[in-house]
Amino acid sequence: MTSDLHDMTFKHPNDGDDQGSFGDHQAIIQGLLMESATIAPKYFYDDLGCRLFEVITTLPAYYPTRIESEIFRASATTIGAQIGEGATLIDLGAGNCEKAAGLFDALKPKRYVAVDIASDFLDGVLKGLRERYPNLVIEGHTSDFSGGLSLPSDLPQHHRLMFYPGSSIGNFTPDDAMTFLKDIRKELHLGGHLLIGVDLIKDDRLLDMAYNDPLGITAAFNRNILNHINRLIGSDFDIADFKHVAFYHREEKRIEMHLEAQRDRLIQWPKGERHFRKKERIQTEYSYKYHPDTFECMLKAAGFPIVKTYLDDRGWFSVFHAEAG
Ligand SMILES: C[S@@+](CC[C@H](N)C(=O)[O-])C[C@H]1O[C@@H](n2cnc3c(N)ncnc32)[C@H](O)[C@@H]1O
Repeated sequence: MTSDLHDMTFKHPNDGDDQGSFGDHQAIIQGLLMESATIAPKYFYDDLGCRLFEVITTLPAYYPTRIESEIFRASATTIGAQIGEGATLIDLGAGNCEKAAGLFDALKPKRYVAVDIASDFLDGVLKGLRERYPNLVIEGHTSDFSGGLSLPSDLPQHHRLMFYPGSSIGNFTPDDAMTFLKDIRKELHLGGHLLIGVDLIKDDRLLDMAYNDPLGITAAFNRNILNHINRLIGSDFDIADFKHVAFYHREEKRIEMHLEAQRDRLIQWPKGERHFRKKERIQTEYSYKYHPDTFECMLKAAGFPIVKTYLDDRGWFSVFHAEAG
């Protein structure tokens, strides 16, 4: 294995239009050069990755989106009455914005702010949303909140609803999730609201199935990260050399997704390289699962003393409506 970390002065190495920042280059290369190589899950979301994720949410085995949406449908009126009309609805990691849009009637927000790292995909989604909801103020904000939460500076301070569905909080380690919950709390005045979806601990087989669909869409989503990395750092990963591996790690209470080398491969990029032995893995995602009581305690510790928990009948998924205290 060789490293160019001492010599990180190069500009973006390729001519493509997928221009990551210098910070991106450095972080990606550092991750690839770790003894156990890692790529951060935020790199799943190039345009194709966003589209593949949309397909994943329609798969029968992928219960989180279906069940979370059912919980929202069943509890929207109650939640809407508690929050009141006219809020600024801030959707963190908005994706295709469909979950927030499903709540517009019940919440009657004054302003909708969709925050996501995937700016081009978000632009396209918001164009369609503005046509569907011409009377709502709709804004997009491109931000990478893995380095902390940053919101547009002109947002009203009062009557904010932070919306964080999809169990994206599970991509943080529990410690980092606490930090992020506290960051969210700092963006809320007393009585401000947080609506957050969290996937729950359940039978290992159900979890394994959700991340190993028979059509191979999740595998494509996972492997596509290598194409994105190739464009960002000019590396020469061939996705055919890496197999999707996903399993529930019961002790750690998390789904782990990896890419496993199918043969010995030397991966190169301008000024650097990494050798992968056959069967060596690159870790691409952790998705932590929680017990509802544990997550409620985390919310309270993060500064949300009032928490209402909504579960589906089988207790597979949870939505927490928390109020800043
Ligand atoms: C699992 S999807 C959830 C999408 C949607 N909220 C839902 O529940 O269906 C995660 C979303 O968060 C965005 N995302 C991932 N990492 C991010 C980061 N570090 N900063 C901002 N957005 C991020 C992705 O682009 C993607 O749209």
